[in-house]
Order: sequence, then structure tokens, then C-alpha cells
Amino acid sequence: MKHELLAQISLFTTAPTDQPEVVSEGFEQRRRLLWLPLAAAVAFGLPAEAATAPPVPATAELNWEEFLKQCLPVAKELHQDTSGRGQDAYLYWIAALVTRLNLKTLPTAKLGAFPGLTPPVEFGIGYKGVPFFMVEWKLAPGAILPPHCHPNASVCTVCLEGETRIRNFEVTGNAPEFSSTQEFQVRETHHEILTPGRINTLSALRDNIHTFTAGKSGARGVDISTYHGPDVGFSFLDIQSKPLEAEARIFAARWKKQ
Ligand SMILES: [Fe+2]
Repeated sequence: MKHELLAQISLFTTAPTDQPEVVSEGFEQRRRLLWLPLAAAVAFGLPAEAATAPPVPATAELNWEEFLKQCLPVAKELHQDTSGRGQDAYLYWIAALVTRLNLKTLPTAKLGAFPGLTPPVEFGIGYKGVPFFMVEWKLAPGAILPPHCHPNASVCTVCLEGETRIRNFEVTGNAPEFSSTQEFQVRETHHEILTPGRINTLSALRDNIHTFTAGKSGARGVDISTYHGPDVGFSFLDIQSKPLEAEARIFAARWKKQ
């Protein structure tokens, strides 16, 4: 059970606008057809019926099935670029479509408590696909999900209910192996409140460590998680409460014993 939950948490793991730069030829052509006026369509020798199709508003609400249908073809293309820019294009493509998603249509997961955390933190996988899968999380009032990293992975976190504080960090300099007790340094890169519909993202190359602290009513949400490289596990870490450098938000940290 612990291993199963560890596997889930290991990938509690974003692109452009409605007319993305990187799209399949067919997809881009269909999009353009929706918007071309009849005269222009005729001038270009395109079928008149295509030009008369009603335009689809760029902000139209999507249910989960519609979300997947629009999201996946482009996400699969963007996922091939594992550079920092590629991962951001991927994450923000997903995030842009999540802003249109009716969150009540998300598939729900069977949740299980993560061992050793009180108040409880629960997880479950709500969707498994390519290139991403979705982990649902539920934090009891005041629950804390300790800081942990997501090596080679990205996460698009979406709050569905309640409120949680989320902080992101990234390693500055070099970090030792997970088995080491040697101290290293992390920099806080985000410190924000997530409420329903708000989104936080991390990639393999930025903001890769995160921690959650639920508000008085608890919180529920999902992590849309993706590997951009091999699964090498993950680790929790201790981050000192007092910064080494207050202005730069640099903190001393150590990996937690597994
Ligand atoms: Fe996580």
C-alpha cells in the first residue's frame, strides 16, 4: 500500500492559446476554416460549407471528454520537446485548457491515506493516459503535505475545493543523492494560495519542489502529472523555516531519510 501511494505521489506531477504555434496541419487548418469569412474561403478555393460553420468561441466551456479531445493531440507534440521551453509550452497548453474545463466533470479517484501524515492527506489516480495522468488529492483541515521533489516530471496543480497554501522551491547549486544527509540549498520561487480554479505548475527544470498546507476547511484538487524523462523516484526533504538569505529566499535543506 505504501509503495502504491508512493508511486502515486511520485507523479502528483502546461501551451499556448486556442490557435497554438505547434499543431498538426489538419488541426490548424480546421481551426482556420472556422474563422475564415466566406469570401476569403471562396478566394482560397475552400469548401463554402466550411466557411459557414459557426465559429467556436475560444473560451467555450469544455467537459472532461472535450478537454481531452482538444488537449491531447497538441500535448503529445509538445511533450516531445523536453527542454525547459518545451516543458513550459506543454504545461501552459494544458493549463490554458484547464481554465475552460468544467471542473465538475473531472473523473473522480478512489482515495487512500498517505501513511504517516496527520491530519490526513489522501491520494488516488483519477485518470491514466498518454502523456499525462491525473492524481487527485484531498487535504484534511490544516493538513500538511511536506516538501518533496518531482525528478524528470512536470505537474499542473489545480484546486477544486477549499483552500491550500502552496510553496515551490528549486535547488540552487548541486543537491546530493537522496540517501545523503548532507545539507544543500533551495530557493523559494512561489508562495501562494490556491482556491478553486487556481493553477500552479512546476517542471523538471523549475519550481520542482512543492509543499501544501491546507486551510481551515481543507482542500481538494488534482495534479496533472507527466514524465519528461526516466522515473528515478522522489524524496521528501526538510527545509529550515528561517532563510539563510531572506531577500533571495534561500533556505538550507536536507533530504529526508527514506
Ligand atoms: Fe507533488
